[in-house]
Amino acid sequence: MRALTVIPNQTGSLEVSDLPEPQPKANELLVEGIAMGVCGTDKEIVRGEYGWAPPGSERLVIGHESLGRVRSAPSGSQFKAGDLVVGVVRRPDPVPCGACAHGQFDMCRNGRYRERGIKELNGYGSQLWCVETDYAVRLDPSLAEVGVLLEPTTVVTKAWEQVRKVGERAWFEPRSVLVTGAGPIGLLAALLGVQQGLDVHVLDRVTDGPKPDLVSDLGATYHHDDVSTVVGKLQPNIVIEATGAGPVVFGVLENTGSYAITCLTGVSPTGRTLSIDAGSINRDIVLENDAIIGSVNANLQHYRDGAKSLAAADADWLNSLITRRVPIEHAADAFQSAPDDVKVIITLDRA
Ligand code: BGC
Repeated sequence: MRALTVIPNQTGSLEVSDLPEPQPKANELLVEGIAMGVCGTDKEIVRGEYGWAPPGSERLVIGHESLGRVRSAPSGSQFKAGDLVVGVVRRPDPVPCGACAHGQFDMCRNGRYRERGIKELNGYGSQLWCVETDYAVRLDPSLAEVGVLLEPTTVVTKAWEQVRKVGERAWFEPRSVLVTGAGPIGLLAALLGVQQGLDVHVLDRVTDGPKPDLVSDLGATYHHDDVSTVVGKLQPNIVIEATGAGPVVFGVLENTGSYAITCLTGVSPTGRTLSIDAGSINRDIVLENDAIIGSVNANLQHYRDGAKSLAAADADWLNSLITRRVPIEHAADAFQSAPDDVKVIITLDRA
């Protein structure tokens, strides 16, 4: 079977490897891979900047955004052959820390969690993969073309949950949200905002390509002006930041109004500096009771809730987020950015 592998921290090591078919353990599903999604983390891994192989292995099978069809399931489990499934990315740390012990492995406190396709566990970028039944999530059969969007949807499901929890520390009836960045995370965050009945605005720098239409097709408003101008004018109750770009992040923080909640989801490169008026930003955050939250990864509840949001979304809209489908044999192409890319996926089906 073919699998997409790298030697972590080695640039140019991506290859389509021939690996033996995996054998499921008693508590595992055997799954035929349909597709894996490519995100910024995968690109970092392929560039040799991130990622850890399983102990004792040189290579790591990549792929944490998964979709597959169950070939076999343990008898007595909640799954059966033919089910459409996604595998959860993170596993709790072995200690476990208090958060992991409570099923909140997305909130791991000691950093010793493991992640399929990223950190010490092989991923889902292979034509067959196994997953523990406790870490598999069934999808509505109608999502066979787009279910690979579940993992990024779980990331924004968690972000929204965090925003709500923080908002509810006092009176909270939000009306508007600004999402910065119209990549897959930003667009899926916007989808969830629309599903909650909010007035949704999305800011990105491009003026052409598919993004403006993807935003307006949701019933949301697209902006491409300077971040300070847009935030200053809209005064959104909530900002979901999905660019990870320093000037955008601080452009937001400098301009939000009272009780604004900003959720940061973008993983930025390090080593870039920016000149800011730290005193003025701090002063505003304090005097306005603003809140800034970082949010990463997702737990099982976010997968279940995310699966419901995807099933409720317009299938054509979800399909149009996937702008390129690259067969595994040509996987390297998927890591080269093209101008109109939104979500690029690698198809894993056996020819
Ligand atoms: C994934 C998360 C993961 C994070 C850090 C992201 O791309 O979506 O699930 O926790 O990378 O490894």
